[in-house]
Amino acid sequence: MKLPIGYDRTSEFGSQLPDQDLLKRLRAETHAVHEELDHLFTPFQDAPLDHLGSFLAAQMAGLTALSTAARVPHDENTLILLSETLDRLEQDCRYYELSVPVLRHKRDLHPLAVAYLVIGSRMGTEVLRRNLIKHGIERIPLYFTPQDYKHAWQDLCARLQGMAGAGPEADDICASVIAGFHLFHDAEARTRDLTGKFS
Ligand code: HEM
Repeated sequence: MKLPIGYDRTSEFGSQLPDQDLLKRLRAETHAVHEELDHLFTPFQDAPLDHLGSFLAAQMAGLTALSTAARVPHDENTLILLSETLDRLEQDCRYYELSVPVLRHKRDLHPLAVAYLVIGSRMGTEVLRRNLIKHGIERIPLYFTPQDYKHAWQDLCARLQGMAGAGPEADDICASVIAGFHLFHDAEARTRDLTGKFS
């Protein structure tokens, strides 16, 4: 995936200082698992029309699992974004008559980790929407409708930057983000089993 101009992923991973903030730690420790996910969805990025239904089903499976795996209380901005996205995905799945796999997961993800995944992933969605347009897809699914997430993302980043990167809560959040990414890995694999796409 080509990164937005001016964005240098590597610049954040060089300094693993013990007093780094939590945002830096999350970026450093979840970089690889995010890259793997990006890679798993490469067939969709190369031939979006061929894999559109499978991509939507995988997102529905992953986001549904993420929403039910979150520990309460939920972050409010995340809840709004999540319910809007799930609602749109549900309409897309109905429109395309998609089968959505149900994932097994443990219900124990830190709410800030879920916030990081739900809000952060909208950046990837924007990139994917532009890719659909580039490929001339006429009916862009509702899932890709632009959302107003930028303030929520800035707030969340400020909050994570204000938190220590070490300690039990930081460990919990970091492990929860990685577990959340793994839900999407599972979603991709289960959807691939169902549809034979993404390969
Ligand atoms: C084909 C699938 C995906 C692509 C192409 C993609 C691509 C991107 C891009 C280009 C960014 C912005 C720049 C960057 O940080 O590298 C981004 C950010 C992010 N994505 Fe993804 N993404 C995908 C799927 C996902 C999924 C399923 C999740 C988790 C639910 C996710 C979570 C995140 C997060 C948390 C960030 C913010 C990282 C940070 O700046 O701290 N992405 N993604």
